[in-house]
Amino acid sequence: MRPYELIKAKRDGKKLSPDDIAAFIDGYTKGSVPDYQMSAMLMAVFFRGLDDVELGAWARAMLFSGEVLDLSETPGIKVDKHSTGGVGDKVSLSLAPLAAACGVPVPMISGRGLGHTGGTLDKLESIPGFKVDLPVADYRRLVREVGACLIGQTSTLAPADKKLYALRDVTATVDCIPLIASSIMSKKLAEGIDALVLDVKVGSGAFMKRIEDARTLARTMIAIGREMGKKVTALLTDMDQPLGRTVGNALEVIEAVEMLRGKAPADYTEVTLALTAEMLVLGGKAKDAAEARAKLQRCIDDGSAEKKLRELVKAQGGDPSAIADLGKLPRARHTAPVAAPAGGFVTGIDSEGIGLAAMALGAGRERTDSVIDPAVGFVLEKKVGDAVQAGEPLVTVHYNDAAKLEAVKARVVAAYRIGGERPAPRPLVLERLE
Ligand code: URA
Repeated sequence: MRPYELIKAKRDGKKLSPDDIAAFIDGYTKGSVPDYQMSAMLMAVFFRGLDDVELGAWARAMLFSGEVLDLSETPGIKVDKHSTGGVGDKVSLSLAPLAAACGVPVPMISGRGLGHTGGTLDKLESIPGFKVDLPVADYRRLVREVGACLIGQTSTLAPADKKLYALRDVTATVDCIPLIASSIMSKKLAEGIDALVLDVKVGSGAFMKRIEDARTLARTMIAIGREMGKKVTALLTDMDQPLGRTVGNALEVIEAVEMLRGKAPADYTEVTLALTAEMLVLGGKAKDAAEARAKLQRCIDDGSAEKKLRELVKAQGGDPSAIADLGKLPRARHTAPVAAPAGGFVTGIDSEGIGLAAMALGAGRERTDSVIDPAVGFVLEKKVGDAVQAGEPLVTVHYNDAAKLEAVKARVVAAYRIGGERPAPRPLVLERLE
């Protein structure tokens, strides 16, 4: 069928055949299907959805639009983790060395900050010298020799997603579960994994605000992975407040290293251990989560997880002494407290508001060509459930540009909700799906 007929069929709620989907996506990747026809198709998919067969074909076409890496020269079950994105989500920084220290090879292709959410690559680049744009040959070698490698998307892996994502961004078709699921899975399956753990974030700081949507997204991604013969499990985790106490690139690296020393906040430690335990089980290094947890704890206690991070940093061109001595990481020139406007208990923190405030401070990009300031960000002195007195610091702002400070402080105040009663604690891991 011609592109026009396929768009019309989807618009009218008809099913598309796998061959037609493959031809449409191939045509778009190569340029014979123009942006305006793909835009119309994306909007038709937005309203009509894709059934399981269509979704499998759509994801496969995106995956095979480029190179699919084969890492079989590295022995063992290669396992990655993917987060749908949050605020203060520095899990990958501690999870990758932890899993690698326990013998699970971790090939990880990560992203940059997107909207109000931070990105692993931006955080890693705050380590002096760290390179995220290594050639694929180095990525392969480091997965084999070091046990982990974290790089950015290359132009040869899932190129259809690169084009489609940019188009979705300007056609109001990003927040569509089949399109998100195929976008994420095509990139992850291209990186050479055998198994994948998904961290699907739910709450004010996540793309999925409702648990029902997070569950549907997780199930959709698990189904795509299974179709491709990969083992996939998912945890739905809370993103109703930022994870841990830091938001901002170098500040988050510091917290990640502290996690590997057993000294990080309980929420961030728990989410990291829960996800890494899933990786150890999928990777055949533990029979169940309890055994995995015990192994992870040993790697923290004996220092081998931090040692693995230093090894990884060195292998990727970074200065490992900046991990041993965190004072060598970029540090903002000034700090300022944000005072609580009233006393009581913190009943909520709008993570998206905090993420946007961090972006305004320079920790994220306002435009694709913005330059990030790795040193700036927030330390959250109060989190949900904490008692606070009027005038006490809610947050410490780390900043370099005084002109930005007052507006950022106002955003932080607006993101905090303070009430008279301590809220009931929320579970961090809301559900597990496989
Ligand atoms: N992250 C992705 O990689 N793709 C999406 O569509 C949304 C979030």
